[in-house]
Amino acid sequence: MRPEELKQLLADMSLEEKIGQLVQLPSYFQNGGHITGPASDMGITQEDLQLAGSYLSIIGAEKIKALQDEYMAHHPHHIPLVFMADIINGYRTVFPVPLAQGCTFRPDMVEAGAATAAKEAAAAGIHVTFSPMADLVRDARWGRVMESTGEDPYLNGLMAAAMVKGYQGERLTDKGRMASCLKHFAGYGAPEAGRDYNNVELSPRTLKEDYLPAYQAAIDAGTALVMTSFNTLDRIPSTANRWLMRDVLRKDMGFDGVLISDWAAVGELVPHGVAEDFADAARLAIEAGVDMDMVSPSYIKNLKTLVEKGKVPEFLIDESCLRVLELKNKLGLFENPYKDLSADDEAALLLCEEHKKAAQACAELSFVLLKNEGMLPLEKNAAKKTAFIGPFVDNKFLCGSWAIFCDDQDTTPLKAALMDAALPGTTVFAKGCPVLGPEDIVHGFQKPVEKEEMDLEQALQEAIEAAKAADQVVLALGEHREFSGEAASRATLTLPACQQRLLDEVAKVNENITVILFCGRPMDVRAIQNKAKALLVAWFPGTEGGPALVRTLYGDSTPSGKLSMSFPYCAAQLPIHYNHLSTGRPFNGNFAEARFGSKYQDIPNQPLYPFGFGLTYTEFSLSSVRLDRDTLQPGETLTASVTLQNTGSRPGTETVQLYIRDVKGSVARPVRELKGFRQVTLQPGKTATVSFTITEEMLRFYDIHMDYVSEPGLFEVFIGTDSRTENKASFTLKK
Ligand code: GLC
Repeated sequence: MRPEELKQLLADMSLEEKIGQLVQLPSYFQNGGHITGPASDMGITQEDLQLAGSYLSIIGAEKIKALQDEYMAHHPHHIPLVFMADIINGYRTVFPVPLAQGCTFRPDMVEAGAATAAKEAAAAGIHVTFSPMADLVRDARWGRVMESTGEDPYLNGLMAAAMVKGYQGERLTDKGRMASCLKHFAGYGAPEAGRDYNNVELSPRTLKEDYLPAYQAAIDAGTALVMTSFNTLDRIPSTANRWLMRDVLRKDMGFDGVLISDWAAVGELVPHGVAEDFADAARLAIEAGVDMDMVSPSYIKNLKTLVEKGKVPEFLIDESCLRVLELKNKLGLFENPYKDLSADDEAALLLCEEHKKAAQACAELSFVLLKNEGMLPLEKNAAKKTAFIGPFVDNKFLCGSWAIFCDDQDTTPLKAALMDAALPGTTVFAKGCPVLGPEDIVHGFQKPVEKEEMDLEQALQEAIEAAKAADQVVLALGEHREFSGEAASRATLTLPACQQRLLDEVAKVNENITVILFCGRPMDVRAIQNKAKALLVAWFPGTEGGPALVRTLYGDSTPSGKLSMSFPYCAAQLPIHYNHLSTGRPFNGNFAEARFGSKYQDIPNQPLYPFGFGLTYTEFSLSSVRLDRDTLQPGETLTASVTLQNTGSRPGTETVQLYIRDVKGSVARPVRELKGFRQVTLQPGKTATVSFTITEEMLRFYDIHMDYVSEPGLFEVFIGTDSRTENKASFTLKK
């Protein structure tokens, strides 16, 4: 439709119709037109069902086509429904969880993964995905770190933009594309105490400096929607925060698409204590510019009365309704309400070989090798006997808790992949223990949590025997998939006790241990690494996690992943991040010298493994940093270079990282900030020059007056292979 036709449609619509376009209902309200259960509890009527303009989590070409036909036939202006769903790390072909994708440091791979997900989801009739989640995270107790791409604003921005481009492509009407919905705006990743949905306290400067850049990158990439966050910011729930939504999101950041609430977040303004009732909540949200109410009864049951009583001006309804109509128009739904849905395409695309290969390739790039003392890669040696032990050896639950449309039966576990690979040598398997012991508590979010019935002592003994008789052991351990994700905050980051016991007992009979760690968050791995010669973080690697691991374990693929989020020394250290401030008493690590330093008495300040860290199967050396000048003027560029050499015996890929420190500013500045990275693959003995161009724009920040400027003075340039590098040189910015 042309813009003027949309405006005419809006003018022709009744108030009820316009409000209906602002309402998104859950899939389970679609009960063949019968009002039952939660729908009736919500007071939903037949007319509501006929007018609500969107559903979430309905999938499948045939089902969506039938529902679209039914809805449009009854709608007074035959306006099409828009179907939305959470396609977070793939639809049926599942990619690694986003935190793992962040570790690839490959925005191109992430974009390709999003494009694959869009092809599959679009064929199934989905028009919008609630992704990318671009929340900056610094506290691994928060289960949703799994859905983020980590602790760095620059990396998160690249990844969020990549996902938007992968989902949306050039035009939303193009086949195999779907609209993206950036979430959760804003600052949801910083809940107090790491507890989901908890209050967020961020200064305006920290919000703008650290938390908004990734959202801005997604907006600049053209995300069609944004989702409000559950949390309060400055004690104001985002869904009612007019400053955040109208001044910051729309005016400052330039977002002009549809703003949808998170699940029931409009109604939750009541328990937040800022709304008397759902009518009050509806008023606050529409005034804040929330265009769509996801699943709460607030808009659908109250907006009409609020307008009729003059409590809400109708132009607010009109501006929101027009944005929803524009979204449907961008998707081409007025011309083709079915968009890409096709049962034939579903059959051809879902889990096709091309997609599975892409998922496997992404998984291989997402693994992070934290420790390796001569264990990996495993030899393909007929004389070797390897025992694969642990609850993740033959475990299909490798897709993370937000892969809600996948079938876990499609996942290839490690054991099956090993059998398929038919490698030389003797391989034995033993489960050793369940994922969860009797004492472990977990509440399933999307799927029920099954407790495995097992004779724990017998399982342990079998594992010990298998380890005794083997030359080397690979222990596949980790957290339950429901340990991370939404509503999955945890105060402890260690392995379930039954798994730690398994590791401890196996280590008593065999010292050649490699641990593969499956997890959705950084964990406290001290008790793991002390017993293992090698530690490979596999995260939740998705449908092809098994084959990806076999290729990596046996050296057909070399790990190159770098941590997108620090692994803390322990949970008590949280929140932790590499780009912290110095404090007035920076601690140099020497407890004797700096009694009054900013430190703990009982643990180190540094994480166990820092942002940007990851080993490969070879070794690299880096020269000192070379600068082509020692002063920089605005408008000029400065080149910083190093020479990288593969000093090992195998090919490998290194991610060379550029960090910059503004030594003195009108406000305190981070000890360093990631400003660039390059991935370089080298054969043994080969070298490469790696150069970065530094500009004055890269040095800008929110100064004492909250102006986004650079300030003259000394800057340090660090170039290394993780965020702890001290390989540096300095220059002066002159004005
Ligand atoms: C959930 C999540 C959000 C998701 C939405 C729809 O509560 O917070 O990330 O997209 O509801 O499922």
